[in-house]
Amino acid sequence: MNKKKTVFFCQECGYESSKWMGQCPGCHSWNTFVEEPAAVSKKSAGSSGIGRADRPVPVVLKDIDLTEEIRKTSGMAELDRVLGGGIVSASLVLVGGDPGIGKSTLLLQMCRNLSNNGASVLYISGEESLRQIKMRADRLGSFPDSMELFCETNLGNVREVLERKKPDVAIIDSIQTMYSEEVGSAPGSVAQVRESTNVLLQIAKGCGVTIFIVGHVTKEGSVAGPRVLEHMVDTVLYFEGDRHASYRILRAVKNRFGSTNEIGVFEMENEGLREVANPSEFLLDGRPENASGSVVACSMNGTRPLLVEIQALVCQSNFGIPRRTTVGTDFNRVNLLMAVIERKAGLALGASDAYVNIAGGMKMNEPAIDLAICLAIVSSYREIIIPDSVMVFGEVGLSGEVRSVSMAEQRVQEAKKLGFSTVILPAVCKGALKKQEGIELIYVNTLREAISWICSAGGKK
Ligand code: TYD
Ligand code: MG
Repeated sequence: MNKKKTVFFCQECGYESSKWMGQCPGCHSWNTFVEEPAAVSKKSAGSSGIGRADRPVPVVLKDIDLTEEIRKTSGMAELDRVLGGGIVSASLVLVGGDPGIGKSTLLLQMCRNLSNNGASVLYISGEESLRQIKMRADRLGSFPDSMELFCETNLGNVREVLERKKPDVAIIDSIQTMYSEEVGSAPGSVAQVRESTNVLLQIAKGCGVTIFIVGHVTKEGSVAGPRVLEHMVDTVLYFEGDRHASYRILRAVKNRFGSTNEIGVFEMENEGLREVANPSEFLLDGRPENASGSVVACSMNGTRPLLVEIQALVCQSNFGIPRRTTVGTDFNRVNLLMAVIERKAGLALGASDAYVNIAGGMKMNEPAIDLAICLAIVSSYREIIIPDSVMVFGEVGLSGEVRSVSMAEQRVQEAKKLGFSTVILPAVCKGALKKQEGIELIYVNTLREAISWICSAGGKK
């Protein structure tokens, strides 16, 4: 019997198996396996057309011409920064994020800026009708006449149009709506997403079109069929943000053309996304005055320092096992720091509940915020108010020592820019800093020193 070959894919992570399984060995989620046809075999398999010469001959490194690797600006400094300095031509960029976070808005605004600068742009939407896109465009402001839209979900037609028109930049909104007739499973399934991305990759590298792909995120927070997708594209950007806050953060998780540490900050307004050039100011907005358990820390994101407020609340536990909760930072790290405070600074935290929160919904895991977390906990426990004008950074080691962190100079400069008058920092950073004026630097060697400084400078409640 001539039976069509099928395999099972996990719809969450793209794990492939020849038989059905209840739990995915890859991502441990249950009931996610779906039967799909095995990948379509193609005559051209093996040569994806990436930078291919006609004959299969290796090239000498020094002979490769780099002049074409020019970057275009997207017209938004925050987006350019995350992309590593602009849009690289013929690259494939995946933009992931929760539904409604603003992916379509961001890309449509980018299209407007690009076509205003004379680039040819094609926006392919499989999700919204032409009228809906027009309505959104009207909200965003004036668009040049030359921008083209195309509503299509059939991959064959998309391919044909892209190969005929060869625009400078194309947007695919979204990859989950595209389907190829050759694959035969439902749109959005792993096999379809993989096939569509593969076709788009060939177009991008073969025709020199820069393609931005929008990808929806599953409940677990990764793009559906993620492993498969993330390997194929050049750059993966995630657009994230708190549903309840108006600001959005664009983060690079993979970038073949730049650093993955950079973030871009935007604010959603009525007329679309606005860039936030000074996010620290934004994040510190609404800080409580004269409250214990609150201190400002500095964390680096790529080359940019961000100031955030760290809050801690320590209270008497009513149960045998104290309760600890963290929001926005690593739970185990906070437990570790509490143990260090207990042993090395002599505070009896064993019978206290502790809650630590990074205000503003940011997520930060850099060790440079250790000292601030410790001081916030001590401040809450002892009810000491740390003055508003103090910023703190430094890593805390297990013996209670305050260790050096990178880019101390930038952190101090950022504090100065935002009007802080005092910075508590590791003594080992002394050598790395230029002479500072207009800001007082308190160098500490140990956690104890930092605590005794806040006890003497801070006010009791
Ligand atoms: P959208 O770009 O459609 O999200 P995605 O493509 O990621 O699903 O963003 C939709 C949300 O943004 C919607 O809740 C309305 C809001 N919005 C504004 O607040 N202002 C605007 O100017 C626009 C265009 C959208
Ligand atoms: Mg959308």
